[in-house]
Amino acid sequence: MALRDQFPILQREVNGYPLVYLDNAATTQKPQVVIDAMNAYYSESNANVHRAVHTLAGEATEGYESCRTKLKQRFNASKAIITSGTTEAINLVAHAWGRANLQKGDAILLTEMEHHSDIVPWQMLAEERGIELRYVPVTQHFTLDMEAFTHALDGAKLVCVVHTSNVLGVRNPLEEIIEASHKVGAKVLIDAAQGVPHSTVDFTAFGADFMAFSAHKMCGPTGIGALLVQPDAFEEMQPFMGGGDMIETVTIEGSTYQTNEHKFEAGTPRIAEAIGWSAALDWMNTFDLDAEHARLIEIAAWVAQELRSMGITVYGRHGEHDAAVVSFLHPTINSEDMAHLLDARGYAVRTGHHCAQPLLTRLGISGTVRASFYIYNTRKEAEGFVQEMKEITEKFA
Ligand code: ALA
Repeated sequence: MALRDQFPILQREVNGYPLVYLDNAATTQKPQVVIDAMNAYYSESNANVHRAVHTLAGEATEGYESCRTKLKQRFNASKAIITSGTTEAINLVAHAWGRANLQKGDAILLTEMEHHSDIVPWQMLAEERGIELRYVPVTQHFTLDMEAFTHALDGAKLVCVVHTSNVLGVRNPLEEIIEASHKVGAKVLIDAAQGVPHSTVDFTAFGADFMAFSAHKMCGPTGIGALLVQPDAFEEMQPFMGGGDMIETVTIEGSTYQTNEHKFEAGTPRIAEAIGWSAALDWMNTFDLDAEHARLIEIAAWVAQELRSMGITVYGRHGEHDAAVVSFLHPTINSEDMAHLLDARGYAVRTGHHCAQPLLTRLGISGTVRASFYIYNTRKEAEGFVQEMKEITEKFA
């Protein structure tokens, strides 16, 4: 079956028009195999994991752990902690590694391009511990100011950087950042929520110490994500959430902890979601992601060019390795109005600050309209979108 036909939601209409889903940077749609896998778990195998010896418990445990195994295989990682998403994964680093390894006066390097989920946890830790936060500025070309990065790196203990901006689609020079950070002894956390849906990353070769991402931006369910950790950084992490499943023994005098990833997965985990993500990870192997990415970035670059030719400001550069995200502002039509007009014709886009207010402040704006493309979007949909934008502009500008 053709890739697009495997997504039941793409058959629906919105306001009497075929749905054209262009809000993929917010969340992607799910293929039937993912929906079926989650249904099958609840219909046939529902049980808790890591506890009982009965058949259903065995099936549930196998399903849950298969997600971890596939994550390790796909990303060539030796440690994969399952979390509720990218946000929890970054908060986990702040609590489990940051609190154990950062002291008053230490510095953390962030960038102005970060999503709030890679800013706020560090602000909270900085306030608690007296840690200095330094922000790498974004240039007028929508890239990180690498000269400023080099200057700010001196004395930093941790560098937190977004793989690919959810607003600009710009992919950062991660290899250069990781190498330079390690040279000064700083650990590196990559927020890869918008990166891994578009390219596969060999985490071991890549060399970052932590990498966080979510399932739902790569055709998996919401409510689940992962933190990949290099073995030495893993040994430096202290337990964060206490409870069942993360312990080895508990007495009234104290507890001992698991030594594997379970140490950071207290309580009943996201079993159905892990089973759904496992199915999504298998499914992602059924097509050539690099070829799809090349197709999408070409579409995004074309859309950006067409919008610019209409007098619309586009934020981003749409290079070969960037994500197919087109953020724009019409000179006279308000963004919310634009999104409503597009929705009236079946086009789903996002507006607002995209949880990246410092970036928008740097750009001198308070929000954009964002069209983000994924593997099931077609050139025909992009052409329809451009045509719709022309009509809206002619009618309302
Ligand atoms: N971070 C997601 C977005 O960019 C929700 O829309």
